Amino acid sequence: MPHDFMPGLAGVPAAKSAISDVDGDRGLLEYRGIRVEELCDRSSYLETTYLLLFGRLPSPQQLAKWNEDVIGHRRLKYMIVDLMKCLPDQGHPMDALQAAVAALGMFYPGRHVKSEDNNYWSAVRLVAKLPTIVAAWARLRHGDEVIVPRDDLGFSENFLYMLTESEPPPLWSAVFDDCLILHAEHTMNASTFTGMVTASTLADPYTVVASAIGALKGPLHGGANEEVVQMLRDIGTVERVRSYVDEKIRRKDKLMGFGHRVYKVKDPRAVVLQRLCERLFQESGPSPLYEIAMKLEQVAGESLNAKGIYPNVDFYSGIVYDKMGIDIDLFTPVFAISRVSGWLAHWLEQLRENKLFRPDQIYAGDHNRPYIPIDQR
Ligand code: SDX
Repeated sequence: MPHDFMPGLAGVPAAKSAISDVDGDRGLLEYRGIRVEELCDRSSYLETTYLLLFGRLPSPQQLAKWNEDVIGHRRLKYMIVDLMKCLPDQGHPMDALQAAVAALGMFYPGRHVKSEDNNYWSAVRLVAKLPTIVAAWARLRHGDEVIVPRDDLGFSENFLYMLTESEPPPLWSAVFDDCLILHAEHTMNASTFTGMVTASTLADPYTVVASAIGALKGPLHGGANEEVVQMLRDIGTVERVRSYVDEKIRRKDKLMGFGHRVYKVKDPRAVVLQRLCERLFQESGPSPLYEIAMKLEQVAGESLNAKGIYPNVDFYSGIVYDKMGIDIDLFTPVFAISRVSGWLAHWLEQLRENKLFRPDQIYAGDHNRPYIPIDQR
């Protein structure tokens, strides 16, 4: 019996999963049953990746080994750096990231997915190396040398260090780590689903992650965080917000950073990200973008809230990164640095009971048309 066609598979379960859950009506997000707010308050991104990948919080010994394994695999093969040196400087960092990750697998022969040990080390390498790849590209495209990861720095501290070669303020590392926790996983989003389709063919995990990176790049998905800050910069002042929103609504244009397929209330991650903004501004000074964003949320809400359209995770995240001096086109790669743990968690879960994704279609074309020779067309 054919199933009804649902555009964008809206509301259609594509998998059974125990990794995360979203309550779109109450604005709740849990990773392996733990509320994401609690993980921000009490965990770290690296511990959260262990929770997502292996389904439970690590013992002190397990966390120490996970940390040691990830630290030990942060460095890049020199040929990956050489590959990035051949890419056009003005290219988008998401393209550089996707190219480098696709090439990464070529250096590690154990890519067939039947070995749990291979799969563990593939997951370690991908979690460990994505930050190094993003930071390397950020340096190379400006003609600067790649900064070697430091084993004595934490996950977030090391990423921020690799961008500038200076150790970030402790508050920045803490806030950035919470941002990574908030972006790590989100059920059947477009990039995770893309990775799962690739995983279902038994392709290797580097290829799985490279395919997910491609989906994340789009402005309707992970690319929205870059679009939001560009929008806030274009608006320029709090006074111009209302006329900007009125024009967008009149043209029926989508407001970047607003709306969500699942949340019909404010994204709980946006709520936490606002708190992180305020913590950051206490130490590093205010951000004019934040004032414009809050005004935009209020004005747009007058028209959109009644339709269940509220700020999503991408609305405030870029303001945090902008305050830390991170280039605007690195915002989505930062999303990827975090979401790789969700992609890998679904990859491992999928492999346990894999079934090739191959949906059906409703055919809307012709039948039995004759071939017309070109001299008669
Ligand atoms: C992420 O799926 C996930 O979990 C994703 C994510 C994750 O963690 O992985 O949460 C991360 O991608 C967040 C979303 C980032 N994208 C954006 O901010 C881009 C702007 N948002 C929209 O494009 C939109 O809200 C989507 C794509 C996010 C969701 O859109 P849907 O579910 O496909 O809904 P739709 O486009 O069919 O819109 C339904 C109605 C329409 O109005 P009508 O034609 O019915 O009158 O809502 C309106 C839309 O016009 N609408 C908006 C709007 N989003 C939806 N109107 C104005 N501004 C918006 N942003």
